[in-house]
Amino acid sequence: MWWPVRCNWKIAQEAFLEAWHSWATHPQMVRTPIDQFGGGNRWDDFGNWMRYAPALPTDVHKSPRGMFEIAEDPQDVVNYYYGSHRNEAPKVSVAEGQSPDELINQGVHDYFRAVIGDAVDNYHPVLMRGGDMLAVFPNFHPWGGFSRIVYRFRPSGNDPERSLMEVILLQPLAEGEARPPPAPIHHLGPDDSMANAVELGHLGRIAIQDVANMEAVQQGLKQLRRGYVILSQHHDAPVRKFHDLYNRWMGLEDEEDAA
Ligand SMILES: [Fe+2]
Repeated sequence: MWWPVRCNWKIAQEAFLEAWHSWATHPQMVRTPIDQFGGGNRWDDFGNWMRYAPALPTDVHKSPRGMFEIAEDPQDVVNYYYGSHRNEAPKVSVAEGQSPDELINQGVHDYFRAVIGDAVDNYHPVLMRGGDMLAVFPNFHPWGGFSRIVYRFRPSGNDPERSLMEVILLQPLAEGEARPPPAPIHHLGPDDSMANAVELGHLGRIAIQDVANMEAVQQGLKQLRRGYVILSQHHDAPVRKFHDLYNRWMGLEDEEDAA
């Protein structure tokens, strides 16, 4: 998918470069602790590599139960993961006494077993279900691991108010299997919604939330009287990492950066 965006490429990129925005941008993911299902989640963050994944039982720091799971009962957890329709039977049903995590982990293993064979047994569910995100400086984001998403953000000519966003979905391929021909690019117009890019599946409906405030952020930056943005210690670390590198490469370092 190719989409012209009405903001600077760095603003567009930052909307996909951290998880801090999730609570406000994707409110459907936030539930109260009365939810009893889901073992919590973890957010690993090492500069330009990030991972959102189910928490390990041994994790000390993890999101509370209920976060990132829209669930009143185990079937709700599974419906959320696989998608569901109010008027149709669930795609995958939880058996009596079965935990939703067990069921989803098994489903993910079965899916990848068809692609990589028994090598699938070498991988922990955290690796298989987690969203690994890589940010290759300055503008390339192949999620890597078992994730299929690749983002690229580019300037639009010399216009600092415009940029180009691309989303590529990769197809897992068994060893030795012939590569299919490249998929045609779906070009969207600036007023089109990413939800119209049917190639992205449910990802398009998530991404329209991510991009909803980009133009406002662009305008807001121009109104900042203090002249700089305050970033959070942990969740915004990838954004800070990018700007540290960017300033160095562009010769914009101040004394604090250089130290
Ligand atoms: Fe997001």
